Parts: sequence; structure tokens; C-alpha cells
Amino acid sequence: MGYNVYVTRAIPEEGLERLRRECETVEVNPEDRALTRAELLEKVRGRDGVLTMLSDVIDEEVMRAATGARGFANLAVGFNNFDVAKATALGLVLTNTPGVLTDATADLAWALLFAAARRIGECDRFVRAGRFAGWGPMLFLGADLTGRTLGIVGAGRIGTAMALKSRGFEMKVLYCDPSINETLEREAGARRVELNDLLAEADFVSVHVPLLDGTQHLFGAEQFRRMKPTAIFINTSRGPIHDEAALVEALRLHQIAGAGLDVYENEPRLHPGLAGMDNAVLVPHIGSATVATRTRMAVMAAENLLAIVKGRRAPNCINPDVYGRK
Ligand code: GLV
Ligand code: GLV
Repeated sequence: MGYNVYVTRAIPEEGLERLRRECETVEVNPEDRALTRAELLEKVRGRDGVLTMLSDVIDEEVMRAATGARGFANLAVGFNNFDVAKATALGLVLTNTPGVLTDATADLAWALLFAAARRIGECDRFVRAGRFAGWGPMLFLGADLTGRTLGIVGAGRIGTAMALKSRGFEMKVLYCDPSINETLEREAGARRVELNDLLAEADFVSVHVPLLDGTQHLFGAEQFRRMKPTAIFINTSRGPIHDEAALVEALRLHQIAGAGLDVYENEPRLHPGLAGMDNAVLVPHIGSATVATRTRMAVMAAENLLAIVKGRRAPNCINPDVYGRK
């Protein structure tokens, strides 16, 4: 007991409740916004542990400012906001929230795919603007899904879930991953191919890779050029995986038919011109944003943080080497 933790932004009550049950001090950022860098550096001081958002950059400076902390628990599956090697070197435990948001994120990728294929954003703006003057034989023709080819780039938990959900549409599934995914091959008849082959064949390309040095700008001018002019690009992973200037250009030149984006290269800023592209469906990083999923994430992050502050092995530790050093 006597634990003192900080939560960088309000999360579902169930998570806070878990923390309050076992900690003496649970301070939560009272503002409905991300902390500034200066606030983050100040607020982490003297805590036993901190529950962080994917928008909090936890680098060496923050780790050193967090005097006395045993680690950081992220409310996200992605953890590119953490300097993992530095944390391990400093003996700090890091955790994430895998598994609980897999379906919600795959569902959002489908929502973007449907919306881009059937031009839902454009149609919605059209109707609201009072421009609907009656049914038309050539009004907002979009793309079919059934029987077409889905290309999954990164067949981890989310990519696999996205692909398995395509079975209702009898889609052909191609995937690109360093490892063979037997579930996908068996359950969806998926075929593992090289990225260039996937880009050439897929009608829908959906990205599900983590952001690493090697995946930054995985999608640039060359990759968009290799896609079919009728193809749609979906990104629900991390923005820097696409070169957003190149994507805007590909959309402008109709090198691809459309895009559905949940994430942006310089989030929350959009690349100039992107907001004006009618063939892009844009949502504000809501992949895991369902009531049930965010509740599960909050509880999982809280339980991770409690294990961290108690010095117990954290269930979802992403730098297990840290325990070997102790
Ligand atoms: C959301 O983007 C996450 O990584 O959980
Ligand atoms: C993330 O959870 C992934 O493995 O896709």
C-alpha cells in the first residue's frame, strides 16, 4: 500500500477504480486533452508508476524525470511512444494492452473499407448539403466487395481478425508477413505473397504492422504506384507507416481509387490537401474506441500498473529482459 500513481488522461472508471482500491494516491489529468511535455515531465516525478496514452512520448528525459517509478503502463497495444531499449537499460517495466482491442480495431478497418468502397463520406456530405435531387443511374457508383481480393499487410492479431471477417464476402485473401500464418491459410484460404505482388493484385490493401524503424514509410510513392487504380488503401495501424505527402498525391492523381485512414503521419495534423480529398474517408484514431473495448483496456492497463508498482511480474510486459536484470 501507499502507492502513488499518475494517469495522464481520464480513462473508463473501471480502470481508475482498480487503481484506487490498491493505491493511496491516484492522480488523473483533469483536463480533456493530452498533457503538454512540460506537464508530463512534472507530473511523473515521485510516482511509483504512470498509466500513459499512446500520445505521451516516454523517452529518456521522461524516464529520468520519473524518479522512483518502476514503470509505465500504456493504454494501447502499440508502444512506439516508448523508448523500449532505454527503459530496459534503466530497469523500468513497460506494458501494453494486447488482445482486448483486436476485434474493435479490425471492425474499424472494415468500416473504413466499406465507407471508402461505397463513398459513404462523400454521400453523407452530399445529402446534408441538400444536393440530393433524386435517384440517379450514375449517382455515386462505388466498388463491389464480394469475391474481390483483400490484401493484408501484417498478419498479427488484428490483421488476422480483419482477414477472417472477410469470409462472409467470399473474398480472396493475400497476406504479407515475415511468418506463415497457418490460421489464415486454413480458415480463409489465404496465400502469403511478397508485398509487390500483393500491391499488384489486391483490390483492398489494409495495413496492420507495428511502427518500427523498418516499417516507417512502408507505403510511399512507389507502393501507391504499384497498386491498381481501382484499389483502396486502409490504415488503422500508425500514421508514419504511410508517406502522407505521397498518399495525397496518389489520391489527387487517382493512382488509387480511395483511402480510409484512422491514423496520420503527423497526428493530429493532416498533410495539407488531405482534408480536401473526397476519395479519402478520415476518422480520428478511433480503432479501439468502443465502450466495452476501452473499458477492457483500462482494466488491463490498471492491472499491469498495479503489478509494476508492486514489483510483481506484469502480465503484459513488453520488455521482459528488464526482469533478468534485477
Ligand atoms: C491504438 O492505436 C493502440 O495502439 O492501441
Ligand atoms: C496487434 O495487436 C496485432 O498483433 O495485430
